[in-house]
Formats: sequence, structure tokens, C-alpha cells
Amino acid sequence: MAKELIGYDAEEHAEVVSTLRAETDLKLYNIFKHFDPKGLRVVDVGCGDGIISRKLIDMGSELVLGIDSHPDMVKLAIKLSEEQEDSISYKQAFIEDCKGDESYDLAILAYLLNYAQTVENLKAKCTAVASFLKPGGKVVVFNNNPFDTVGGDFSKYGFRKKLTGLSEGAPIHFDYRPIITEDIVNFYLTPEEHIEAFKAAGFSEVRWEPLILPEGDDPSFWKEYYAREHLPVICMVAIK
Ligand SMILES: C[S@@+](CC[C@H](N)C(=O)[O-])C[C@H]1O[C@@H](n2cnc3c(N)ncnc32)[C@H](O)[C@@H]1O
Repeated sequence: MAKELIGYDAEEHAEVVSTLRAETDLKLYNIFKHFDPKGLRVVDVGCGDGIISRKLIDMGSELVLGIDSHPDMVKLAIKLSEEQEDSISYKQAFIEDCKGDESYDLAILAYLLNYAQTVENLKAKCTAVASFLKPGGKVVVFNNNPFDTVGGDFSKYGFRKKLTGLSEGAPIHFDYRPIITEDIVNFYLTPEEHIEAFKAAGFSEVRWEPLILPEGDDPSFWKEYYAREHLPVICMVAIK
């Protein structure tokens, strides 16, 4: 299957990740709680505009390599990261086409795996990520939650999520209007297929990490978000 570029606008996406609390609070807290960033060599795969890459450097990581398949995202990331250009480098590529040198401590995959349309492609993504990591290196995933089979209206939090089925690669629509003009389209693969893909790529340990409320954040704001069995997004942690 041909690899596809995302269909939404880079600047519009940058507005979502820098303004919605589901991104600025929930996402960043639930990613960064899994490691101490100080001194780490990190690969940020599907880095988008580089918002996580810059935070990693701000929090003391030694260096970050951001990889993204979309030229507009990479262009924007380079522009927004000028002040950290000594510590962050960006590469435009599909992760499936990359081979790393096993020199990184940590890989961040924020909304990357949910673009895999087949189990085969999910495995290819995990295998390529593994090639960047030292033995014992860690992956932190933030992703569409495959345990959530209903979706829902999260307008209070800036988006709506609609599933179209539960077959391999069934599209999942995330509607961030009015900020993003086009739907963000992810694809369904089962929870078991996610675990299998990491195991097939040589990871020794893989676990799901459901989102928790950021420390000190206002629980009343998040009440409707958490009022369901499975949240729309989830984290995973894997160790090579
Ligand atoms: C929703 S954005 C998330 C950006 C960033 N990780 C964040 O959390 O703000 C997903 C990004 O993954 C990139 N992407 C999708 N498939 C990819 C692939 N196979 N290899 C590299 N990047 C990919 C897209 O171009 C897009 O910029």
C-alpha cells in the first residue's frame, strides 16, 4: 500500500496543539510522566511542528531528531525551532523508510501509529523505531485509543471522534473544526495488533497506559472527558 501524506494543514494543526488543553495539558503531561528528559537522546517520530521536540530540549534533553513525512510540517518545525537549532535536527521521511543506528535513549510517537492502515505497516513502523533505540531504550506512544469503539462528541475539548467500523484499517475521523478545516483521519487496528507489532519488532516489554488527569489540573473541567469507559486517546510504553 502506498504511503500517504496527511491531508490537513500544518499551520492549522499547530494551532490545535498549542491551544487546546487536551493537547497542552493532557497530552504533554501523560507523555512526560514516563521519563526524566534530562540528558536524553530522543527521536520524535511524526514530530509535526516540533512542539514536543522543543519541550524536550527545554527540559534538558541532550538532543532531538524530529522525523516527519510531510514537507510543510518539517518546514514549520524548523522555523519554530530556530532558537534550539543546535540541539534539534529535523528530517523529512516516512519512518518506515528509515534505519537508525541504535544510539537513542527514547522515542516519542505522538499520533504516529494511528496512521498505520494495516498490521503489516504497524509492524514496519515499530521495527523502524526500534532501529533508532539503544538496547533498553524506551518508546512512549500517545495515540488514538483502540479500546474506544464508540467515539463521541468532545466539543467542549475542541474535537469530535467518529469511527466507521472495526475492520483492519477502518477510517476514524477526528474533527477539530473550526480550527482545522479537514478531518484528521486515523485508521483502526485492534489493541492486540498493537502489542503484537511491538513484540514482532523486538520489544521485550509493552504496556498500555490510560491517561490520568494532570496533577493540579481542574477535575471539573475534565468531568465529561473522563465520563466514559474508554477515553478517545491512550498512551503506551515499550522497552527494547
Ligand atoms: C497529528 S500529527 C502529530 C504531531 C506531533 N507528534 C504532535 O503531537 O503535535 C501526526 C504527524 O505524523 C506525521 N506522520 C504520519 N505518518 C507518518 C510516517 N509514516 N512517518 C513519519 N511521519 C508521519 C504527519 O505528517 C503528522 O505531522
